[in-house]
Amino acid sequence: PPLEEILSLHDFEAVARRTMSRRGWNYYSSGADDEITMRENHNAYHRVWFRPRILRNVGAVDYSTSILGFKTSMPVYITATALGKLGHPEGEVCLTRAAATHNIIQMIPTLASCSFDEMVDAAVPGQIQFMQLYVNSDRSRTKKIIKHAAERGVKALFITVDAPQLGRREKDMRTKFEGAASAQQSQGGDNFKRDQGAARAISSFIDPSLNWSDLRELMDAAQGMKIILKGVQCWEDAVMAAEAGVDGVVLSNHGGRQLDFAPSPIAILPSVVAALTARGFMNNPLRPKFEIFVDGGVRRATDVLKAVALGATAVGIGRPMIYSMSTYGEEGVSKALQILKDEFEMNMRLLGAPTMADVVPSMVDISGLSAP
Ligand code: FNR
Repeated sequence: PPLEEILSLHDFEAVARRTMSRRGWNYYSSGADDEITMRENHNAYHRVWFRPRILRNVGAVDYSTSILGFKTSMPVYITATALGKLGHPEGEVCLTRAAATHNIIQMIPTLASCSFDEMVDAAVPGQIQFMQLYVNSDRSRTKKIIKHAAERGVKALFITVDAPQLGRREKDMRTKFEGAASAQQSQGGDNFKRDQGAARAISSFIDPSLNWSDLRELMDAAQGMKIILKGVQCWEDAVMAAEAGVDGVVLSNHGGRQLDFAPSPIAILPSVVAALTARGFMNNPLRPKFEIFVDGGVRRATDVLKAVALGATAVGIGRPMIYSMSTYGEEGVSKALQILKDEFEMNMRLLGAPTMADVVPSMVDISGLSAP
């Protein structure tokens, strides 16, 4: 259908399912095992209800905010998803350009189809980019990647900590043989066939021995870039992350692609905020701001508003970005982001919250959101 007929982020998924290559669709859409977590990521948002307020002068609505100190037009960033060229021949630079158009932040994936430098070069001057980092068993390679990212102006490193080994994605496995023959690669190295193979073929370098005592070394290598752990799944680990001195965490189960029956990030968010607040890590003027992000299943601005109300700085969006890219290219991604902006404007009015600072815990009812 023509792009004008796309009304919501869900619509891009429906078009992607019909039009993408089977290999691309199977890689993007798959979740682990029975995909219970993948579905629950979105479904959990259905158990959070608003408590809208009235007569609040919502004539002008402002949904801009800051992420780790960097301005963004809305509390949404494009999270890292690997292998963009499975969906569109130009790959991740489509995301970079749409992010520029809408003044939001893109997280560059370690395993992108485009090279890191292509994605940095595609950015406009002043555009903020973060980087997602898989830690290589060969630490010298990881340090080289970190150093290069800092030199090229990346502002934050999101270290993925939920993938010591790859989840079992059966839909993807069924097509893995088509192009994944070259499972041997050296990530970032010369022989790495960037656009070959699906999940299993690209992830063998990830170091499963990574542990808390490695963090200091990575933080020291970061040259002032912020460090965030991506893939935290309970409050105990969020507290350990704060104690370790990182700048924030992403509550994430990798879009339901790793451990099936891992909880939905929105369901654990209240317990994480409570635990960090009780230990003085949040809203503490004596400490640098510790930020919490969530990703997984976010498809509407109302989902984002719920997460922000519960204490998240911002949310990451994955599949809707690559579905819109796969179906309509950069223009599609741009349209997806515009849809979100329109949804923010309308829903903040209806909620009675003219700015993001007005989106507070008392605006949501979580009595039906059982935390595991
Ligand atoms: C991902 N994700 C991911 N995360 C990461 O840290 N490194 C990666 O290389 C990838 N690759 C990747 C590929 C694809 C196709 C998907 C769908 C996801 C996880 C991603 O950053 C994020 O956690 C989820 O995508 C969020 O869920 P939604 O928005 O896709 O529901």
